[in-house]
Amino acid sequence: MRLDKLLANMGYGTRKEIKKFCKSGAVKVDGKPVKDSSIHVDPDSQEVEIHGEIVQYREFVYLMMNKPQGVVSATEDLVDETVVDLLDPEFYAFEVFPVGRLDKDTEGLLLLTNDGKLAHELLSPKKHVPKKYFAIVNGRVTEEDVEKFGKGVTLDDGYETLPAQLTVLAQGSISEIELVIYEGKYHQVKRMFESVGKKVTFLKRLSMGALQLDEDLELGEYRELTEEELEFLRG
Ligand code: URA
Repeated sequence: MRLDKLLANMGYGTRKEIKKFCKSGAVKVDGKPVKDSSIHVDPDSQEVEIHGEIVQYREFVYLMMNKPQGVVSATEDLVDETVVDLLDPEFYAFEVFPVGRLDKDTEGLLLLTNDGKLAHELLSPKKHVPKKYFAIVNGRVTEEDVEKFGKGVTLDDGYETLPAQLTVLAQGSISEIELVIYEGKYHQVKRMFESVGKKVTFLKRLSMGALQLDEDLELGEYRELTEEELEFLRG
């Protein structure tokens, strides 16, 4: 890979700036100053240094965020703050995007990455990746609802959902539930409850495939996935 491309990808500047840094002697490969920014380097076997800092090259990043309410799951938006706006500048150059969407008023697990292949696999309708949600629902969620969800319900547009596992955690005029669904239709959880005449007033995603929300993350916080989490996620 070209040296200027590698450094630009890692957010050290534009190619033009990197050319200047090289000319000024600020860039070293395997300890030796390199004046020509167009040379090819192998990031796996060679050590690249800029301004005295060793570059830890990687192509992909994988971030787990505890999405807060009030921000949209997008890379840009004319009106609202986006989940990408919550990231530190060190991640800007990677151009990460959210894997799937959570509604503006939904909290919880959101994966952000620039690995299009993994994102595609997780979102593919054929893969039936399970997604687990916690919700507070206005109305008494009954055994009958559990059975209906277990068979699949019909949404307002006539779509028949796949069977989903509904667990009632607390039952009353307001109920608390957990729901596992295997697809990701628009507003799916809210619409599933609407199909049985109930309204979701709070929604939080707890897991996606093998990836569980790290409960140590405060709302709006994020961290990189561990090697283990990434392996589990790839399956
Ligand atoms: N289902 C919804 O209704 N909203 C979400 O954000 C996710 C799933």
